Amino acid sequence: MILLDGKVASAAVKESIKQETAVLLANGKRAPHLAAILVGNNGASETYVASKVKNCEEVGFVSSLIRFDSEVEEVTLLNQIIKLNNDASIDGILVQLPLPKHISEAKVIETISPDKDVDGFHPINAGKLVQGLPSFIPATPYGIMLMLEHYNIQTKGKHAVVIGRSNIVGRPMSILLSSNLPYGNCTVTICHSHTPNLNELCLQGDIVVAALGRPGFVKAEMVKDGAVIIDVGITRVTDETAKKGFRIKGDVAFEEVAAKAAAITPVPGGVGLMTIAGLLKNTLQAYQASIEG
Ligand code: GUN
Repeated sequence: MILLDGKVASAAVKESIKQETAVLLANGKRAPHLAAILVGNNGASETYVASKVKNCEEVGFVSSLIRFDSEVEEVTLLNQIIKLNNDASIDGILVQLPLPKHISEAKVIETISPDKDVDGFHPINAGKLVQGLPSFIPATPYGIMLMLEHYNIQTKGKHAVVIGRSNIVGRPMSILLSSNLPYGNCTVTICHSHTPNLNELCLQGDIVVAALGRPGFVKAEMVKDGAVIIDVGITRVTDETAKKGFRIKGDVAFEEVAAKAAAITPVPGGVGLMTIAGLLKNTLQAYQASIEG
């Protein structure tokens, strides 16, 4: 069994980004600049955004963290995004989701310039992805593709089962795996909450991507021997014995599934780290398009 280690694979991606950034700086160019917007103080969102900012620093990018309290009016947030759209020194903009109920996520996403949409959530980028045109790929599916590439997991002609159909993970993941790409060309089945025979379908997967947000959902009896298992789950589960009072749990029952799998991502230390690598790649891509264009 191969452990698809996010620490190892993300370190390799980050090292190449760091070297590219060092060359830019040595040539007198400015560094890529990511602006992250955080609304409120949801614990998980705080952690993710802090990690994104820290990783920018590690590869030599500039980052700006812009915070609003959870009561902020939608118009204030939209105006801030417009300001960042018009600021030539900003290459990438991300607004951490989820947002408070009174703010329309769709409006926020559609206000971000598609050229700075390093999360790849804007409908223009989502549409381009579907048509196989160059676009920003949402960071988690992008990170998973980078993981498959790093470990040279063969995907052509394989049956991939994606559990979950969110705009952030499941849907773009299904498109990438079915696309004519070096680590694509799969036959893809998407399962969701209305799939009656999910266990049966999952059992047919040569590759299983679990992205439904239910801790330990994928059990050994649902996977075939030799499958490649990608666990996207990152649910905080209360655990009094843990220092922080919770543990991060994936969507896969790791021990029992690992015993059958050819390769599997751990949680934590798997896909989460690759998401950051995907975001950094997108930010560098936005920067390159901006200085060329
Ligand atoms: N919330 C959960 N995942 C993500 C992500 O990839 N980007 C943003 N902006 N918010 C998220």
